[in-house]
Amino acid sequence: IENGWRFIEPLCLYQGFWCHPSLTERIMLGEEFFKAEPNDIFVCSPPKSGTTWIKALTFAIVTRTCFDGSTSPLLLKMPHECVPALHRIFGKKPDIREPGLPLIATHSPYASLPKSVLNSDCKIVYICRDPKDAFISLFHFKAKLRPQEIEPISLEAAFDLYCEGKSDFGPFWDHILGYWRTSLERPGKILFLKYEDMMKDTTFYVKKLSEFMGYPFSLEEEKEGVVQKIVELCSFEFMSNLEVNKNGMLFGIRNHQVRNKNFFRKGKVGDWRNHLTPEMAERLDKIIEQKLAASGFGRDWLN
Ligand code: A3P
Repeated sequence: IENGWRFIEPLCLYQGFWCHPSLTERIMLGEEFFKAEPNDIFVCSPPKSGTTWIKALTFAIVTRTCFDGSTSPLLLKMPHECVPALHRIFGKKPDIREPGLPLIATHSPYASLPKSVLNSDCKIVYICRDPKDAFISLFHFKAKLRPQEIEPISLEAAFDLYCEGKSDFGPFWDHILGYWRTSLERPGKILFLKYEDMMKDTTFYVKKLSEFMGYPFSLEEEKEGVVQKIVELCSFEFMSNLEVNKNGMLFGIRNHQVRNKNFFRKGKVGDWRNHLTPEMAERLDKIIEQKLAASGFGRDWLN
């Protein structure tokens, strides 16, 4: 896809999903150079579905660094730096992962994960979001990161492409279904989460996450309020006001610097209502109904 609905590079179709060419190379290389360990925990998501949040939460759970909020690395480092992406890990010497930290993130669809991830005992945490909100979030994100020489794309034109499945790591319905189906077949392998549920009762899901990941909270920790401290540390309000997330720069992609603040916009459920016409919402709902709800999933996203 060669128009403004791109980020740095045009999107190309690879293994049935839309992706940046430089990433497809890394995904292919991952098969050869990356071997998952049984203790690894993969944090997977379609873009703009709460990746930053779930990275912060899983990092805080594994490291328990928020016992004393003043010493948590999350105060100084962006969640994307704390939990590196799969395609940035392999081939780097030294390994950019912190020693002993089992967390690795990726937007890859389930079927394109390295075989060792599918076949080993490592676990997967997946988060997805109402596609209406994910689209609006993606539209704003891309608008901010679009290189100047590329013409901006209208919301309507971007929406058409999204509905055709043409968005980063889309079609979004295939992405969600790939993980959803496996989570039903292998509930011990994949914890399937929704942004909206997590927003409604974050404490409940932080406990669930910690148990699934094999890092449950002890009774003492619960009494000391550790769960609540993690919830607060990782909340949108707190994270988006940290100096590192307001003014920090993330990594460069082909000489293009990504600002940390681009990953924090509103952090709300239902912001699509401020941007989509009723007709647009209905069109996306129809797709959700046909593609997802028919498979028994996503009914609660329907308007
Ligand atoms: P909005 O654009 O709707 O505000 P990702 O992390 O997958 O790129 O998704 C980004 C979306 O998650 C953005 O949504 C962003 O504001 C929201 N977000 C970022 N950090 C969050 C947090 N700690 N809690 C809740 N939402 C968060």
